[in-house]
Amino acid sequence: MTLIKNICCIGAGFVGGPTMAVMASKCPDLFFHVVDINKKRIEAWNNKDLSKLPVFEPGLKEIITRTRNKNLFFSNEIKNAVESADIIFISVNTPTKTRGLGAGKSSDLKWVEACARQVAEFSKGDTIVVEKSTLPVRTAEVIQKILNSLDSESQGDTDIKNFSVLSNPEFLAEGTAIEDLENPDRVLIGGEDKSAMLLLSQIYENWIPKEKILFTNIWSSELAKLTSNAFLAQRVSSINSISAICEVTGANIKEVSRAIGRDSRIGSKFLDSGPGFGGSCFKKDILNLVYLAEYFGLEEVAKFWEEVVNINNWHQKRIAKIVVKKLFGSISQKKIVILGFAFKANTNDTRESAAIRICKDLIEEGAELVIHDPKVNPLQIEIDLEMKQFTEIKNESIDNSNKNYGSWTFSNHLNIFDNAHAVLVLTEWEDYKNIKWFNVQKKMAKPAWVFDSRSIVDVDLVKESGINLWCLGDGSSKDEISYF
Ligand code: UDX
Ligand code: UDX
Repeated sequence: MTLIKNICCIGAGFVGGPTMAVMASKCPDLFFHVVDINKKRIEAWNNKDLSKLPVFEPGLKEIITRTRNKNLFFSNEIKNAVESADIIFISVNTPTKTRGLGAGKSSDLKWVEACARQVAEFSKGDTIVVEKSTLPVRTAEVIQKILNSLDSESQGDTDIKNFSVLSNPEFLAEGTAIEDLENPDRVLIGGEDKSAMLLLSQIYENWIPKEKILFTNIWSSELAKLTSNAFLAQRVSSINSISAICEVTGANIKEVSRAIGRDSRIGSKFLDSGPGFGGSCFKKDILNLVYLAEYFGLEEVAKFWEEVVNINNWHQKRIAKIVVKKLFGSISQKKIVILGFAFKANTNDTRESAAIRICKDLIEEGAELVIHDPKVNPLQIEIDLEMKQFTEIKNESIDNSNKNYGSWTFSNHLNIFDNAHAVLVLTEWEDYKNIKWFNVQKKMAKPAWVFDSRSIVDVDLVKESGINLWCLGDGSSKDEISYF
């Protein structure tokens, strides 16, 4: 194959949608067909009202306006898109398996497998199949086997099919996806078929300098993606663990972060303490790494990485406990305002958000939560907070008169502080940096508390207003420390 014209992406999610939109904007001569089995999602991508796009990302609307129905198309017509494609990106979700072999750790590849089967069935001629989804190491082998076996079954066809499988992991972070796609630190292409690798590289070279495009073997590429996310998550767990030490020793995590970040060997990014990492990737990818290590008998390696996830879980629980403790050990029937439900700012995604665990814990303690988020759909919060395990706990409470479980409501405006005992900041949305705490204080029940897990509120304003303030990792207001 020498000429690439049609590109198909299976999976119109948080990764597939923005990635193809940016590619389409940078390669006006190529055609991009994004397909998905989910009808509603495709309808949303095609909605004239751009505020209804299924993914919120700064800058995305503008790109969609320029490219949609010109060289970027969203549809459920998987067969047509695969048939005409020279390159097919697989960008479907790969959640952690909930049952069977590897449950709780390894990724469920059923959708990747389903895609490979569709590609084998519908494709024509030479096709490059690109893994975009984050996958366990050696998944490319599985895809190649499926493609080859189904292809040989249909050898009666006059059409001879040839497949090259490449790994081209995505490193975009939600909230900055467009920026990350337009100007990535690197593009990684893993594979064995050099000419296929060069063809894929040529697409990226439309806007990315050649020296940023790295070629590796396919397994290194798959492992590099898992390792990247594991290293980033490890930094967040590291800084969060130190925040707990700050609180008891009188140190301040922001000062510690600033000081260590100045060491060029450490670097200043990913050193913000927060309520614990969320998002669809970090936990899943580390657990994949743990599974891989266990599978090959590397128990110590598995334990090392698993601890990154364990600390994250512990840290989220710790925040809920602090709120209860500061409010005199009981939050039953107390109104608590939750500021932010997304797993980070500038996204409407709540997958693995720390807010889910923390809100559930507070509701279990009897709090009446009022949750605010500027972009998250309340129906999503309902799904997140009504997970099976939680429903079971709630049902038990019917027979347990000692326990009064709380409740939650949602608001999309910030007029929600009346009679609140506390405000808990969980996502670093810009809006929360400019809250007029003096006015808020007048409305709140006393003693009023602000708990800031993102270190974003105006500390002086909160303190001057007379509200008690707890900032994650700030031990500097400790009166006395009895250590020696
Ligand atoms: C991506 C990656 O692909 C995943 O591996 C990574 O860990 C997280 O990011 P993401 O785009 O965030 O996934 O997932 P999601 O928003 O759930 O989108 C996946 C889409 O694939 C969904 O719209 C789903 O309907 C679609 N899908 C799934 C198909 O079209 N076909 C299938 O067979 C399965
Ligand atoms: C991550 C990787 O950054 C990206 O390269 C990969 O492609 C997908 O996974 P994402 O999960 O979208 O991206 O967001 P990221 O910015 O990495 O944040 C993940 C979580 O860590 C968020 O909950 C965020 O709030 C938290 N975080 C991040 C911190 O608590 N402190 C930090 O300093 C950085």
